[in-house]
Formats: sequence, structure tokens, C-alpha cells
Amino acid sequence: MSMLHQPPLLILGIETSCDDTAAAVLHGNRILANVVSSQDEIHSPYGGVVPELASRHHLRDIVPVIDQALKTAGVKLTHLDGVAVTKGPGLVGSLLVGVSMAKALAAAANLPLIGVNHLEGHLLAAQIEHEVAFPFLCLLVSGGHTSLYVARGRGEYELLGATRDDAAGEAFDKGAKMLGLGYPGGRVIDQLARTGDPTAVRFPRAHVKTGQYDFSFSGIKTALRQFLHTQGASAYRVEDVAASYQEAIIDMLLERLLLAVRHLHIRRVVVSGGVSANSRLRWRLRAAGEELGLEVYMPSLKLCTDNAAMIAFAGAWRLACGQRSSWDLGAFATLRL
Ligand code: KG4
Ligand code: ZN
Repeated sequence: MSMLHQPPLLILGIETSCDDTAAAVLHGNRILANVVSSQDEIHSPYGGVVPELASRHHLRDIVPVIDQALKTAGVKLTHLDGVAVTKGPGLVGSLLVGVSMAKALAAAANLPLIGVNHLEGHLLAAQIEHEVAFPFLCLLVSGGHTSLYVARGRGEYELLGATRDDAAGEAFDKGAKMLGLGYPGGRVIDQLARTGDPTAVRFPRAHVKTGQYDFSFSGIKTALRQFLHTQGASAYRVEDVAASYQEAIIDMLLERLLLAVRHLHIRRVVVSGGVSANSRLRWRLRAAGEELGLEVYMPSLKLCTDNAAMIAFAGAWRLACGQRSSWDLGAFATLRL
């Protein structure tokens, strides 16, 4: 499917799959607006996303967030070429807010509607800023997903492996909770680890026997719990534990990715999703890329974590290919790529 020689489309993207309410306006690769309203403070006391609270806050925030995106972009609804919205995977109550709003706006302004797979948004996000040629390997690491794909073309994705239990982001968040660092914990661990020693504690690196590209993060969580239980709180520096825990997660991620590079002879790699905002992962990946002569792409931080620009971008090429969603577009809790 090709969209060569077509003028760039002006697309409104809407994303409400989890706990961020997001809207963006894209004109081709140009991001005219990228608004994200975070619910971190709302879910923080519970140490995780509470679905009922998430959908209620999406309902409250969705109109102002879309309004702000259109205003920032200086665009009226009637100027748009289409509306793209995340249809899944995610929390159904959250997704429904975005899908319903997208349908209402598209119907009111007589615009084409396209439902987008959230994972495709993450997978293509690096292409908004960089010319990333196909094929490439994509490590998608977020709070809900940890999967390794080969992207052979737009819409042509092959899943090599995925996590058998927790996602990498969950491992960060649960580790941070055990260390009493608050929620969401990925960013806090990242920050603390900068002044910690990653070799201070040796956490286990799990291997999944049945799938060479599969991941498992439940063991490291248990190892951290046991470590904290057996050592007194004063026996270690929290920075060192954070750095060691983070290093084990990164080792497991990079090991699979580099195994795929070797086996499949694909030397172009993309890392995307919330965890790809991790500064140590970015540094290690750059270093590995330089050492092995790989082309490495990572979206800028605003495009790593959940955002609607990536949804607008993935939706735009599908619309350009002539695809449309019907007015009975639904929300899907589970959706493969
Ligand atoms: O992609 P995302 O915003 O939402 C999902 O689709 O899940 O990813 C959120 C996840 C959270 O688990 C968060 O802790 C993690 O990404 N994260 C990080 C960093 N920033 C966000 N993990 C490690 N280091 C970071 N700097
Ligand atoms: Zn995501």
C-alpha cells in the first residue's frame, strides 16, 4: 500500500486508551499540536491505574484537550481531512470516550473516521521525525506491552516475541512501589539510577525456555522483594538498588533485541513506548548501535509515552490508502497488531 505523491493530510488524532487524555493535529509529518493531559496524580495514591476513575476523567478532559489541540494548531474542524482515534488495545471504558468523541466530531463535520491500533501508533512513532526505512526491528516497551516486532512495511508486522507476564513498564512501576518511590515509577527509577551503581546488586536475568524472543519480568520483581526483605533498609543505598534493578530490565530487553539483529540480519532498530523514554536504555542502545554498526531510532520523549500524534500519524497513512472505519466502530480491550 503506497501513499506516494499524495498531498499531506491534516488529521486530528485522539488517544484515550489508558490514563492519558490526548489530542494532536498533524499535517503530514509536521506536528501542529500535541496535547496530553496526564492523570498520574489521580491514580498515584492507588499505585496503579483505576479504570473507573480513568474513564471518568477522560470524560471531563476530552473536550478541553481537543479544543486546545485545534486552537494551538490554528485549525478548525472543517479544515481537517479526517479524524483518527485509538480503538484498542486498552481499557474499554477509557477507549470508548475517545471513540465516541471521534465519531461525533467526524459525523458533525462530515469527515472520514479511522480507528487505529495503539500498538501501530507506537511502532510508527519514530517515522514522524526520522526517515526510517523498512524493514526494521521494533522493541515496543510500555506500561502495558513488551513485544518485539519485525516491521517489513506499513501494515506488515510480525510478532517475534512478547512478555509472558509483566510488561517492562510494570516492572519499573512495581519496583518503584516496593522501594517507596511513588507512581508511575519508571521516571523516578530512571532519575535515581543516574547516581547509583548498576553493579551493586546482582538481580537475575530471566530466560524464557520456550520462546527465544519472549520476556519475563516476574522473577526480578520477586528478587527485589526478597532483597528488600532480607536486607535492612539502611543496608543499601536506594540509588544503587534502583540502578541495579533498572540494569537487569535493560539487559533482558537488549539481549532479545540484539539476538534478533544477529539472527534476522536486520540492522535497523526502533525502540518505542513509554519505557523507551528511559535515559539509561537510550544510552545503552546508542552504545550498542555504535559498537555493532546499527541504525538506531528512538522517538523524542513526547512521542515515546502515550500521545495522539502517533495515532494521527498511523491513521493518516491508512486514510491515504483509502481505508475508513464505519460508524459502528467499537473499542477493543485486546487487539493484536
Ligand atoms: O507508553 P506509555 O505511556 O503507556 C502505555 O501504553 O503503557 O508507557 C507508560 C510506562 C509506565 O510504566 C512508566 O513507568 C514507563 O512507561 N516509563 C518509564 C520512563 N518513563 C515512562 N520507564 C522507565 N524510564 C522512564 N524514563
Ligand atoms: Zn502506549
